[in-house]
Amino acid sequence: MKRASLILAFVVISIVLVAWPSKEKEVEHPTPSYVGAGKCKVCHLETYNSWKTTIHARSFSALKAEEAKDSTCLRCHTTGFGDGGYGAEGNFIDLAGVQCEVCHGAGSLYSRSSVMRQPDLSRELGLVAVDSTTCTTCHNDRSPTFKGFAYKAGLITATHTHKSGRRATGR
Ligand code: HEC
Ligand code: HEC
Ligand code: HEC
Ligand code: HEC
Repeated sequence: MKRASLILAFVVISIVLVAWPSKEKEVEHPTPSYVGAGKCKVCHLETYNSWKTTIHARSFSALKAEEAKDSTCLRCHTTGFGDGGYGAEGNFIDLAGVQCEVCHGAGSLYSRSSVMRQPDLSRELGLVAVDSTTCTTCHNDRSPTFKGFAYKAGLITATHTHKSGRRATGR
């Protein structure tokens, strides 16, 4: 009886010791930072050119000089404001407007071919799956000009599918 429980205790401890290090590895990634659309352009030229013609690419210039310093407006008219992106101290990357990383997530860790070819690894390193809640963080009644929002129609006109011929799914 005593021996059986000793063996059981040994087995349990061994399992815990073996499982422990691999669990720690999963959460070791540093926080990704914003790299700017210019970095994505290098590998996604067609997509970049299509995005460049959308209202999102121009959304910073909708702001007048004073408004362009107003944190209320910057939150929705730039990329990564208040999150280490636009306007962060020591950040000289062009992050004006609603760029790729607003929708796809900060890219410093996933934007390498070796990573990007592995969908699971990309997601682990910060690539975000886009859905309607991605958009409604800005398309909501906190926007002074809000009149409603149509997700499916917006995917076609405002992401990067209208020129490249590639269609975004409504996922
Ligand atoms: C060094 C080249 C490279 C850079 C830089 C790069 N990508 Fe990629 N990306 C790829 C490759 C390769 C794939 C996989 C093949 C494909 O779908 O074209 C990919 C796939 C993707 C996908 C589809 C992934 C999926 O699983 O659905 C998205 C979204 C994406 N990239 C966004 C970005 C964004 C945003 C940036 C900039 C922050 C970026 N990429 C920078 C090479 C790159
Ligand atoms: C970071 C904030 C932000 C996010 C996230 C965002 N947008 Fe926008 N969007 C804007 C801003 C700002 C404008 C207005 C730009 C201007 O008028 O210069 C805009 C304009 C638009 C417009 C044209 C105006 C209108 O309301 O019809 C469409 C369509 C649109 N976005 C669709 C989308 C879709 C679809 C998504 C998600 C896949 C999305 N947006 C995510 C900030 C955002
Ligand atoms: C307003 C949001 C939004 C912006 C800005 C945006 N995307 Fe996307 N992107 C999407 C959506 C929605 C999809 C389709 C759904 C998905 O795959 O998650 C998509 C899909 C993709 C894909 C995979 C499918 C395809 O069409 O090739 C790539 C690669 C990609 N985006 C790259 C980029 C790059 C590079 C930029 C900037 C130049 C960018 N995206 C800007 C919303 C956006
Ligand atoms: C919660 C996100 C959000 C905030 C905050 C925000 N905007 Fe916008 N802005 C948007 C979106 C999204 C659009 C696209 C139209 C819409 O749905 O409101 C837009 C469109 C605009 C437009 C062009 C469209 C038009 O009808 O004139 C201007 C100009 C503008 N915003 C100025 C501002 C200013 C100035 C501020 C700060 C006082 C501000 N925005 C704050 C998200 C925002």
